[in-house]
Parts: sequence; structure tokens; C-alpha cells
Amino acid sequence: MEKNESSSWFIGAQAENHQLFESLLLEYLQDHMYWRRNFHPDDPPSISAQSAHSPEYLAFIARMKDELYALSAALKSSIPLSSPRYMGHMISDPLIPGLLAQMLTLPYNPNNVSEEAAPVTIELEVKVGLQLARMIGYNDDPNQSPCAFGYLTAGGTLSNYHALHVLRSIKYYPLALQTGMQHMNVKPRPGSILKRIINSDPAKLSNLSVAESIEAREAWLEFLEQAVPVSQRAQLDNAVNSSRIEALGTHAFFSLHHKHCPAPVVLVPETAHYSWTKAVRLLGIGDSGLVRIPTRAMRLDPDALEHSLAAAHKINQPILCVVGVLGTTEYGTFDPIHELVAARERWHKKGLGFAVHADAAWGGYLATLFRHSDGSIVPREQVRKDFKYFPSKHVYSAFRDLGLTDSVTVDPHKLGYLPYGVGGAYVCRDHRCVDFIATDAPYLGRPAPEQDGESAYFKKFRRLGTYILEGSKPGASAAATYVTHRVLPLDKDHFGKLLRQSVQDAEHFHDRVLAMRDRIRDQVRVCIPIEPDSNLVCIAFNPIDNNSTAIANNFTESLYNHLRVDRSIPVQTRAFFSSSTMLYKRMLRNHDAGRVVDELGISAYTFTETPEDPERDADGLLVLRHTLMNPWLRNNVNQIDYIEKYCLYLERLLRQLVAAYVRADDASASVH
Ligand SMILES: Cc1ncc(COP(=O)(O)O)c(C=O)c1O
Repeated sequence: MEKNESSSWFIGAQAENHQLFESLLLEYLQDHMYWRRNFHPDDPPSISAQSAHSPEYLAFIARMKDELYALSAALKSSIPLSSPRYMGHMISDPLIPGLLAQMLTLPYNPNNVSEEAAPVTIELEVKVGLQLARMIGYNDDPNQSPCAFGYLTAGGTLSNYHALHVLRSIKYYPLALQTGMQHMNVKPRPGSILKRIINSDPAKLSNLSVAESIEAREAWLEFLEQAVPVSQRAQLDNAVNSSRIEALGTHAFFSLHHKHCPAPVVLVPETAHYSWTKAVRLLGIGDSGLVRIPTRAMRLDPDALEHSLAAAHKINQPILCVVGVLGTTEYGTFDPIHELVAARERWHKKGLGFAVHADAAWGGYLATLFRHSDGSIVPREQVRKDFKYFPSKHVYSAFRDLGLTDSVTVDPHKLGYLPYGVGGAYVCRDHRCVDFIATDAPYLGRPAPEQDGESAYFKKFRRLGTYILEGSKPGASAAATYVTHRVLPLDKDHFGKLLRQSVQDAEHFHDRVLAMRDRIRDQVRVCIPIEPDSNLVCIAFNPIDNNSTAIANNFTESLYNHLRVDRSIPVQTRAFFSSSTMLYKRMLRNHDAGRVVDELGISAYTFTETPEDPERDADGLLVLRHTLMNPWLRNNVNQIDYIEKYCLYLERLLRQLVAAYVRADDASASVH
């Protein structure tokens, strides 16, 4: 087994780094206490030594101890995420730097809504946005335009809401600008973008690109400043702002003011995470505004996208954005982001403008495998040297062109190996995108005085709450993410080492499953229904003489019962953990469904969107789902290959289950 350097960056499955962790934590906790004392050390104590003897205080301590003990005891039933025996969901042991930075920041309790509540960590959060921007391929230099912006959210779900909220605001700004300018009889300079907007056919205004909308807003602000007397500026600006979708609400905007303009739709692949359904409901777009594009083997089908775009163009249907997923939740497959950005350019020329958002909640950090430390892209041939299969051509192209998207969701709490609290991140290519949703509050503080050498960029985001969905938010998360990215820069030679291991482990897992499939083929058919793009692998099973989907599902369910989290069974008695999911027929092309049923020996008519006999048919196939992100799956210290161990365990379970399945079958035959 090769030496795996990145595996020592964690506390460890057996808490091997416990002393390092404890001593650093203690050092910085003590440091915090000294800091408290040294802020006006001449102030007398606020809690008297005497109160430590009061019955109320003693009772408080006793209750606290009881409760903490109970909590600590209860937590022993938690899922052992640090163990290489856990291959279930997208969770792992967090990296030491992030955990320590988060814990040491917590007692300072900064609130990253504004500089007044978090003078230190708010700047770290803005820097985290730039660190992620660089990883994605956006410009991260505030001195060059357009510079990206990113911030931390509670999770990928919220980042997706934010992306849609921003893109909708941008999309309908030009219409509001036209209405406001016409209402106020504004006369823009001939040849200017404002002139083009005021004279434009309104139907065309909901088809501008993100960059054009930004340009229009900048031109309007410049016009107000340079061509309008101070006394009239507010009135003019108000005419535009009160015509915006944010002011009017969706119903009034479309039904009363812009009857010619159909409500927008959002195009997502069939595999999109359910947060997109929540997002369209939240924004009043509704389920009917979420158009699902068919996939090929769980990857968005560019031909199907082209077809939907052509249909939308024909009926003047505005498209808010096209979403591509980099790492689907169920199969870890990657959509062809390069095809999406190419389609955006092509259709923009034909008059259909839309934005492209990459939902890279899962796969975003894999971009570190494709970046040199200077931010340049690593050639595919060089990336390939470290792997057996990865990266396929389409995966490489998707990451190469990620920087051409308009915005990205990426989750530091997933493949960033950061602790919860640090959630997701929203990153946009041009920081001016978030100006469209800016909502200020006077209590966030008076504008702070200019600091020496501070760029306008950092000054702007000192009031972070103005530009984001959330209000109060943990500064400790920003500290954790910033420190981690500093210790392990987001490139192939640092953070990338950890993910290289993860993808190599997944390739090994894939091959060991195929070897297990061959060993057990006389009893059970085993199939990898969707070839993985990176580090998530699903497996389907069927006992050899069964041809019914429903029975295959029952069989897999019995297998999963040995691998699932079950509160009635102590976690310590489990040999391994996996997760499960459904492979739905409706999400597969006939070709893909045919291949899966063939490999499993299932009759195609029992795998159907319209089951007739529930004991025989099903609309989905239950599969085991494995996330290969644990750093000790192949342990070069104790020489244990947990992946091979798991496959052998599965094989044993499968043989036992087949024996039970055959016995049950014999019994039912004798009853009949
Ligand atoms: C592709 C994708 N998008 C969004 C999300 C939502 O992320 P979160 O659970 O952090 O809200 C997930 C979660 O698994 C995901 O896989």
C-alpha cells in the first residue's frame, strides 16, 4: 500500500492525533481566557468568588454536569464517521485545522453579519470566497474586473436558493429599468446601453446576459450621478426600484406590469438535488417552473438541453438559468458544464439569454485536482497519471470550464472536510451580481472609516448581511474554512492530495466490487448500475434465479438491514455502514435501464414506471450507495484494506441471504 500523507491531517479513526489536538486546543482556550482578562484588567470581577458557594450556583453546576454527562453518553450512539468502516453518506472526520480553528473561535462568538459584530472573521469570510473563486477558475484579484465574490451559507441548499434569488433579480432588472426610465421620461445619450434598453422590445429585455444586466445597472448609476441633479436622483432611482420584481412581487410584476413576458423557468437535470424544488417553491416560481432535462446515465444530456432551449426560444419563454450538477447526490456523476456554457454563448447570439449555475455542492473541491498552485489548469494527461480511470474526458472538460459559469455552489462541509456549522458556499463570477439583491439595515452600523490600503472590494463586504440571504451567521465557520485553506491551499499539491486518495480509493472499490461480482456470480448477480465519475459508487444485487424487480428490492433491503444506521442496534456491533438509494426507471433512458436489467437478469417489464403487481414490479431499483471519502480506507500503517474487507463481508452476507432466500422459496413452494 502506498504512503498516504493526507491521512495524518485528521484526529484519526483511533484518535491517534488526540494529544496534538488536545494540547493545541487547550493552548488556544487558555489564550482566550487571558485575552478576556487583559481587556481592562483593572476592572473588578463580575462574578464574585463568594457566589461560587451559593446553593443556586452549586445546583446549576450539578445540573449542568448531569446534562453534559447524559449528552456525552448519548453521543456514543453517533455514527462513527471517522472509521474507515463507514462508507455511507457524504460525511467524514473533519480536518484538524478546521476543527481547531472553529473551536478556538467559538468563545469569541463573532457574528459575520457585519463588521461591528465580527471585525476579524468577516474579512476571513470574504477571503474564503476568493480562495474558492480561485479554485473554481474565477478571477480572485479585487484589482481586476470582474472579481468574484463568495460567502459561506448554512449548506448547499441555501447556496442554491441564493443563486436563484440573485439570478432572478438580475434577469428582471432591465425590464424594471425600462419601465422606470419611461415613466420618468428619461432621455439617455444616443448609442448608450440605457438608450438601447429604453427603446428595446420588452420581450428581449428578459434575455440579456448576466454581464449585460450588470452593465445596464452600472450605466444607470453613472447616469444618475453624472447627468441628474442631486435633488432629482432619489426620485428617478425610486422609479426604477419600485418597478423591480423585488418591490412588486412576482404576481404583480408578471400579471400586471409585464403581461407579454411569460414567467421564467429553471432548467435542471433530472438528477437535480431536491433543494431545487424547495428553491422554486420559495421564490414563487413553483414546481411548474422547474423543467427537468433528461439525462444519459445520470449525466445531463446536451441534446435534450438543446431541444428544450429551442422549444423555449420558439415560444419566447425566458429561462432564468440552466443548472449543471458537479457530483450528483445519488451517483456522484458530473454534468457537462462545458456544454452548458457553450450553449449559453450560442443561444445568447440567437436572442435567448440565460445564466449557468453549477451545483458543485458535492464535487466542487475536486477542482483542486485540476489546479496548479499558481491557479493555472493542469493538463488532462498529467491528472490521469495518478488514476486508473479518472478523469474521463467530459469530467476534465467540465472542471476546465467551471470558471466560465455565472455562479457555483460548493460545500466545504462535504469534500472540504470541514465540520458542520461550516456549511456550503455560494460563489459568483462577478461580485456585482449580489448588488442586485442588496438590502441594508441601519443597525448593521455606520459606514466604517476608510482603512489604509483597504480596497473598495473589502470595504463593500464589511456589511456582509446586506448581500446575503441570512442575517446572523457564525464567524467561527469562516475562521475554520480560511485556516484550512491556508494550511492546505486549494491546488493539486496540497488539498488535492486528500481528494486524489479519495478518487483512487473509489477506483479500487470499483475494481474490488467487480472481483466480488465474479466470485459470487453462481449465486447473486451484482452490477454497478452507473459507472462512477469520481468517488461515489452504487451497487445493485439480484439473486441468481429471480427475475422480479420487487423481489430484487426485498433482497437488497435485507442486505441493507445489515449495513444501515438502526437506533435499536448499538453502532459498535456493526461491521460496516453504507447508505442506499433508489435508481428510478423514469430517470433512466431505455438503453441504460436495459443494460441494468440485463446485467441483473431481471425481466424488463417488472422494472417499470407503472407497476401493475406490487409483489413483482417496481418503478425503482434499491441500490447500496457508498461515499469513499474516509482517509484510512487503505491503511498503509496497519496494512488493512477496508475496501477489500468490506467486499468480503458483503460476499459473506450475500451467500447467507441467498441461502435464506432459497429456503424461504422452498417453504413457500411446499405450502402451495
Ligand atoms: C448536488 C447537491 N446539491 C445540493 C445539496 C444540498 O447541500 P446541503 O445538504 O449542504 O444543504 C446536496 C447535498 O447532498 C447535493 O448533493
